[in-house]
Amino acid sequence: MSEQREQLARMMEETRAETLSLFRLADERDLHQSPGFGFRPIIWHLAHIGVFESYWLLQKLGGEAAPDARYERIFDPINTPREESKDLPTRREMEDYLSRVRARALSRLEASSFEAADPLLGGGYVFQLVLEHERQHQETLAYLFQLLDPSKKTRPVVAATHSAGEASATCCETLARAPSDMLTVPEGPFEMGAVWDAFAYDNERPARTVSLPAFKIARLLVTNEEYAHFVAGGGYERREFWGEEGWGWREREGWSCPLFWQRRGASGLWNAQRMFETGELEPAHPVVGVSWYEAEAYARFAGRRLPKESEWEKAASWDAAAGRKRRFAWGDDEPSEARCNFDRRFWGTTPVGSFPAGASPYGCLDMSGNVWEWTADAFEGFPGFEPFPYPEYSQEWFDGDHRVLKGGSWATHAAVLRTSFRNFFRRHFRIGFAGIRLAEDVSSEQ
Ligand code: AVJ
Ligand code: FE
Repeated sequence: MSEQREQLARMMEETRAETLSLFRLADERDLHQSPGFGFRPIIWHLAHIGVFESYWLLQKLGGEAAPDARYERIFDPINTPREESKDLPTRREMEDYLSRVRARALSRLEASSFEAADPLLGGGYVFQLVLEHERQHQETLAYLFQLLDPSKKTRPVVAATHSAGEASATCCETLARAPSDMLTVPEGPFEMGAVWDAFAYDNERPARTVSLPAFKIARLLVTNEEYAHFVAGGGYERREFWGEEGWGWREREGWSCPLFWQRRGASGLWNAQRMFETGELEPAHPVVGVSWYEAEAYARFAGRRLPKESEWEKAASWDAAAGRKRRFAWGDDEPSEARCNFDRRFWGTTPVGSFPAGASPYGCLDMSGNVWEWTADAFEGFPGFEPFPYPEYSQEWFDGDHRVLKGGSWATHAAVLRTSFRNFFRRHFRIGFAGIRLAEDVSSEQ
């Protein structure tokens, strides 16, 4: 096999081992129930990952018949209906299905030439698609596991333990020196979208040059401490911070603080439910568990606004001195533990600004990893967008409700941290490990 194909086979194996280990975090019976908010049982994702692999590699690419028509129906690879699935097969049965599909997928890989003119196969596109799909579902699994009570989960032994106490001491010093510094990104053009040949989704292309006026963007993410001031200051009761639809959601759902925050009696202090324990809210960590509506309300309270998607991407990736776009905030080197919090290394957030080696060209910190960042923009196709290889990945969600999120979270795989990656959630979605970075105009008098 060619080197590229061998490398793909290796990554597929590695990723699968990670997937299977995720399903060992809780007892199987807890995987068969909805973890909350009407989401599908966690176990659904296991077979869905296999059905997606089968659909693209065996059926579409290989012209083979679906190995199991029933699986294709329940775990639909393309349309992902939101209703609850009941009486799903056992984990064991799903794992057998996955290995059957995988054996055939590997034979298909061996028989494929990436030199092909077919855009699905050329450069190994469809294999990358399947791999990235599995990695994205691993992150979704982390959201769903976060909904389960900590008592139902076992921390994997390999996870690094992160001492919040130590790390936040350094962090708070930084914060005290510069509580909310806003960095200026001067006017000028930059390249938006996937400028590289490497795998990218349809929604990241075509890349184009975009010129922006000067703007300011926060060096750091909004912290729990800052957000607690918003809550204490009546942020959830004061109508003036909220838009029409956001206020409706707040009323209907009874939002009064971020998801996973719990009041500690009448003290005004907070606890937070994390992946494996509930404890004091960590003030220097980024706020997470907020919808786009809450992010907007907070920005209004702070006298600022959310960054536009283009502003975020320029601040994260545009190396003006070199006149080129960086693949990651710090440059083109692969993500590493010195540069960002990613890939479930800590199973939670880290204090804001903990990775100075990961600074963006303009000095922003945590732009890759830690928490996703809500942007002001609706998810839309770039000018010249063409759906590929299926409209249900992106185009289906150009519906005016989804907003673009950038940057990746602590649960995002390295491959998905590229600065051109565009995530998209509905505005009221709170489980997606998303937080807030503020921006503001540069006033014309300056
Ligand atoms: C890009 C994360 C919004 O989870 O709905 C998974 C990724 N698409 N299976 C999602 C996806 C099809 C998608 N997000
Ligand atoms: Fe999927």
